[in-house]
Amino acid sequence: MKRLAAILAAAGFATAAQAALADKMDAAAVAKLHEQKCVGCHVGNFGGDGSSVYTRKNRIVKDMAGLRQRVALCSSQSGAGLLDDEEQAVAAYLNQQYYKFK
Ligand code: HEC
Repeated sequence: MKRLAAILAAAGFATAAQAALADKMDAAAVAKLHEQKCVGCHVGNFGGDGSSVYTRKNRIVKDMAGLRQRVALCSSQSGAGLLDDEEQAVAAYLNQQYYKFK
């Protein structure tokens, strides 16, 4: 699947590794994974559609490395149990949707 890779490349922050990963998981699958494993708890904690955790003024994540770390932390702490590839793909997805780090 090339679509996520194309989106990432267009946004100008895709490393070769990210693009290769995105090729393995398509954008819809990544969005669905995030919806299933992550959104419910964020809604419970932050209300709305849960996305305000990513956009709040005092958000924790400051860069792409921090985003990957936080995704991994949330995944393991919550028992969501994403695989490494899935964590990378979800981090890239969150960056594309919300964080927009270069
Ligand atoms: C059991 C509840 C729970 C689940 C499930 C969960 N999270 Fe979180 N997440 C939180 C809480 C609570 C915070 C805020 C932590 C804080 O403010 O110290 C958070 C914060 C975050 C942040 C940082 C937001 C910021 O401030 O920049 C990211 C990124 C994130 N979560 C990603 C994920 C992803 C990806 C998943 C799914 C794999 C996930 N979370 C699953 C509870 C959860």
